[in-house]
Amino acid sequence: MGNPEEGKVEMEPKKKEGGGILVKIGVWYLFILIVFAAYTNWLPQIRGDAPADAIAIELSAATPEKLAEMGKMIIFGTDNPEAVLSGGGNPAGKGQCPLCHQFFLDQKADRCPNLVALPSSPDPTLRVTEEVRSHNRFKEDRYKQFSTRLVNGESNSGIKPHATTGGEYLVESEYCPNCYVVEGFAIKGTNDMESPMPIISKPPIQLTDTEIVSVISFLQSKDTPGDFSRVTAKESWESYFGKKLDSAAPAAPGATQVAAAGPAIALESDTPEQIVQKMGCFACHKIPGISVAKIGMIGPLLIEGTNASNRIKSPEYKKAVAEGKAKARTPKEYVMESIMKPDAFIVPGFADDMLKDFSHKFTFAALEKITDYLLQQDVAAAIRDGLDRLPNEKEGPLKKPAATAGLKRSEKLAMDKNSIGSAGG
Ligand code: HEC
Ligand code: HEC
Repeated sequence: MGNPEEGKVEMEPKKKEGGGILVKIGVWYLFILIVFAAYTNWLPQIRGDAPADAIAIELSAATPEKLAEMGKMIIFGTDNPEAVLSGGGNPAGKGQCPLCHQFFLDQKADRCPNLVALPSSPDPTLRVTEEVRSHNRFKEDRYKQFSTRLVNGESNSGIKPHATTGGEYLVESEYCPNCYVVEGFAIKGTNDMESPMPIISKPPIQLTDTEIVSVISFLQSKDTPGDFSRVTAKESWESYFGKKLDSAAPAAPGATQVAAAGPAIALESDTPEQIVQKMGCFACHKIPGISVAKIGMIGPLLIEGTNASNRIKSPEYKKAVAEGKAKARTPKEYVMESIMKPDAFIVPGFADDMLKDFSHKFTFAALEKITDYLLQQDVAAAIRDGLDRLPNEKEGPLKKPAATAGLKRSEKLAMDKNSIGSAGG
């Protein structure tokens, strides 16, 4: 790297057989075309959407209506999520909620509790809105179990469950997802106790307090168009935390900007880190070497240098191939298939929870870039970053002793200190 002479020396022999190379490239290209012809339904299908304008809001003058409008932008990244949806995309803005929560009947993310009512759903539980549910949650025995168990504060947020109204319950859900975990939606293997939902006020999603109040305002008014009488978000925030919202307001004095980037597209010029951030992969996956991807608890630890070849060899994958669902023969094809067509094969121990719209969001070069990056990640890289598999991964935890065995005592102490620090919030 960095030495032009080295590059030249390598180029020399190739030049001499230039014609042969061309033919080879031609044949290879033809091969690629044939291979991908079989996948035409999952090749990247880019459609360019103009980014929507950013909106700003003056907190002191914010009406519930204004807050709800801003909340909509934060959730969907657009004020017309229906249009994005009908174009085959999944409208997810800065808040990333639609990566996991269902807001529309034909939206692909449907494994987490719905936050707005889906009146035409055949499933009666989906016809109930979160606004209605929020008034009952904190009265449940299950809620009391959490508040008893977490009487000294939940370890990631330091918060002790203490919601006394529906609005406060919604506030608590954003700052402390573990304070109450909806039955059946916890991380598998945690006895229904730990939520895979990220803390919304912390990185990488890191909404400001005002933004969270806006999101809740949207949730409280979504099911009653034009009627904002149920919006209590700001008051609920203040009663829950026992302080004025203004004093916690961030950035520009009195105003907060919502960057509404619109539906993002992964481009060739993006780094792997940028792709993971833009596409929201971090909400579900941990990935070595990517600073935003340290919290995901819905999908497997992405160490594809280790996983991909094992997957292809597994009896489960061979079954999916025999059924005509999966088609990959190389680790690279496996990773591309996993991103473009997630339901081709469901990794054992997981549900079909990955979004199905990435073929609308990647250029081919960006897809190759993230694929190559993931293929470079292996067990050693994960251990180096202190990442581990989820309890539900069939392969079991990575060997921890190997990680610390070679370290000096001072480094070990530093690691221990870090883990205590993060556990304390
Ligand atoms: C990575 C996936 C994920 C993301 C992103 C996410 N959530 Fe969640 N959320 C969940 C899961 C899973 C649950 C159910 C488990 C629990 O109670 O924590 C949940 C629960 C909730 C609940 C409580 C539901 C109930 O019925 O009691 C609320 C409210 C909520 N989320 C709001 C949001 C909002 C608002 C956003 C965006 C700012 C968001 N979530 C982003 C996964 C996610
Ligand atoms: C809403 C959650 C969610 C998001 C967002 C998400 N994934 Fe996944 N992903 C999953 C789940 C769940 C699985 C396992 C089930 C399956 O095989 O589909 C998975 C599986 C995978 C696999 C196969 C892993 C293996 O070891 O076999 C790859 C690769 C992958 N995802 C890459 C990505 C990339 C890259 C992104 C972002 C562009 C992304 N995922 C976004 C949930 C998600």
